[in-house]
Amino acid sequence: MDQIQNIDEMVSFSKQIILGNQHPSGAYVASPTFSQYSYSWLRDGTYIASSMISIGECESASKYITWVSEVIYAYREKVDRLPQLLVSGEPIHNNWFYSARYTVNGDEDVSDWPNFQIDGYGSWLWLVAQYLHTCNNELREDWAGSVKIVLRYLEIVWKLPNSDCWEEFPDQIHPATLACLAGGLIAITDYLDEDLAKRSKALSDEIKGFLYDSVHNEGFFPKYIGSNTIDASLLWLTVPYGVIDAKDPVMTRTVKKIETEIKIEGGVKRYPQDTYYGGGRWIILSAYLGLYYLKIGKVKKAEEQLMWILQQAGDGGELPEQVLDQVNDSSMIEPWESQWGRVASPLLWSHAMFLILEHELSVYNQQKEKSHE
Ligand code: BGC
Repeated sequence: MDQIQNIDEMVSFSKQIILGNQHPSGAYVASPTFSQYSYSWLRDGTYIASSMISIGECESASKYITWVSEVIYAYREKVDRLPQLLVSGEPIHNNWFYSARYTVNGDEDVSDWPNFQIDGYGSWLWLVAQYLHTCNNELREDWAGSVKIVLRYLEIVWKLPNSDCWEEFPDQIHPATLACLAGGLIAITDYLDEDLAKRSKALSDEIKGFLYDSVHNEGFFPKYIGSNTIDASLLWLTVPYGVIDAKDPVMTRTVKKIETEIKIEGGVKRYPQDTYYGGGRWIILSAYLGLYYLKIGKVKKAEEQLMWILQQAGDGGELPEQVLDQVNDSSMIEPWESQWGRVASPLLWSHAMFLILEHELSVYNQQKEKSHE
């Protein structure tokens, strides 16, 4: 593929990258060219599958959801054992819990990479609801069984410290993680029977209350409970999960801090102290900010985010995980490059977020045109 010239070309290239890297099992690899990213993460997978739903590729999303559902079912004994283990007095061990990532064949990653991260399970519930809403309204029996297991799992683990969405800070509780849980629970509630719906609603209400109790004394949502800083993943509280209203003053203050502390032009960093590959600007985060702008009616700003992303494509059209021209700490680029090679590119999640933002903007513009007819 030659240099990508415009939005339409990037739409079709992104679709090609994603579908071309979906394993026959249904799993999506995080990046086909970056050695450490040959796993399928539940987190990345949710947004990748969601992008497929947005462009009408329901079958791809369905295969992915089924793959996750089977993984959840295969390791369901973990959930049965967990309550007992947690009161046993033994030190908590990562392998008591569901994993953050799996091989494309559904095996656990047994390396010492932090693996206890719960956001992906909440996100998966949200994805199932997205699919039901857009593709097919009927909750399949096998999926319903796994949804029930996840609900039980989240009831047990939601308040335990676990690694954040960047696989860091394992000893903390992260509002962005809780956004995925509450968002998933809220979305799936409509598709559950009365008893499960009650439990799901009760848990999402409890999480929401906890989120408000954890607001920083300066009035913003913190990176983790008790932290003095922010993180761009806090945008998830509003987009896509809708747990906190976009115009809630706490959210507005949080976004203001993201804009002033970690946004340069359209590019958004993860958090002010990030040093992973120096801590550059992430494509996915620029897209989430674009979605937030769209939500509050700042359409031009949302379009600017999309254009900034387009400009970050490599010569072959690939979107990387992050761009390194404006990093927090340039001395940290080389150590990561010698350990793992150049920044992951293409990253499927980056392409997915381009597709999602582009789709939302098109829907907005179509609706606007209609209202003028
Ligand atoms: C990121 C995770 C992501 C994984 C695979 C990690 O570097 O911190 O958020 O799930 O890469 O893309």
